[in-house]
Amino acid sequence: MDDSNKFAKLHQQFLCCYPINKMAWSTLKLPMELEEQRALIAATCGHELNQFFPVRRSYQEAFVKRLLQLLKDHEDLHDDIFDSMCGQLAKASLDDAASDATSSSTTTSSYAYKHYVLQPGQHITLRESNSFVSEGTTGLCTWEAALALADYLLQHANLLAGKHVLELGAGAGLLGILLKHRSLQLQVGQVLLTDGSAPCVQLMRHNIALNFKDLDDVVATPQCAELRWNRVAQFEWSKYAIPDLLLAADVVYDETQFEWLLQALDYIFDLAQNRCQMLLASTVRNVDTLHKFMVKLEEHHYQVTPCANVSACASHFCRDHTAAVQIVCIKR
Ligand SMILES: C[S@@+](CC[C@H](N)C(=O)[O-])C[C@H]1O[C@@H](n2cnc3c(N)ncnc32)[C@H](O)[C@@H]1O
Repeated sequence: MDDSNKFAKLHQQFLCCYPINKMAWSTLKLPMELEEQRALIAATCGHELNQFFPVRRSYQEAFVKRLLQLLKDHEDLHDDIFDSMCGQLAKASLDDAASDATSSSTTTSSYAYKHYVLQPGQHITLRESNSFVSEGTTGLCTWEAALALADYLLQHANLLAGKHVLELGAGAGLLGILLKHRSLQLQVGQVLLTDGSAPCVQLMRHNIALNFKDLDDVVATPQCAELRWNRVAQFEWSKYAIPDLLLAADVVYDETQFEWLLQALDYIFDLAQNRCQMLLASTVRNVDTLHKFMVKLEEHHYQVTPCANVSACASHFCRDHTAAVQIVCIKR
């Protein structure tokens, strides 16, 4: 059996940097034979995805430390465990030397990769910031709400067939890359990812290039563009298909942006002559903030219907299901 399949859950969790303390450690049968230890490292730190596009170094260190804790009573430990630890330390000193040399605020160590495994052998690779907020935006990493909406879309693929999709505040680009992923054959129409932050659009472009071979094939590849909600009328709409489905994940948190977001929705719903709907996923951090936005949607004559979240056991993505995410469908 392939090492990744043998430790499928830990393999999937490691590659997308799922919190170490919530990982499926209980799936390991202790004590572990040397061959088992080798296979676990091969499915995680030693996996080729991590070799080519490494996940955050501090995450890899924390993973190995936790593994060593679990194996503390073992007489024999496989060399690959130590090698992966030493490899990380060696890379750390190289990175430190590089950052000393450049003294730039955007050294390579402020970004790392995450791999979202969809099914054995199929994955999405994204470059993401190691910080939740950087370069003046929250969009350079993927948030829980995007993962929840991704699961919802995979479970309701019928909503996508033949539909042109527009995402607002798309951040690092996970959803659009998912919708066009070859392995899923979702039959979606044009996918346009937008964000108001130039660094996000740049990162999305990079991430699209990581996951699609033929960037000129506008049918098979998601498109991306800069769109600030307060500049919606200035956007070059004629270059793109009129959207049937709007998506947005974790964009309702800053009350100063509510009017702009509503203005953008009004504009786009007018453009589509109301023949479109929107799926909005929001992490419930502050109930009042979300409630205020829902009230404003009603004032703007939208109908809002709650959608059922995908349960943990049917989920394709590793996410913390204790963090509440609300998904609603918006029509006018
Ligand atoms: C918390 S991030 C969510 C990113 C992504 N949707 C996700 O869930 O992973 C919010 C995103 O909304 C974008 N955003 C915030 N205000 C905006 C505005 N006025 N116009 C366009 N995009 C905006 C930010 O740049 C950021 O990418």
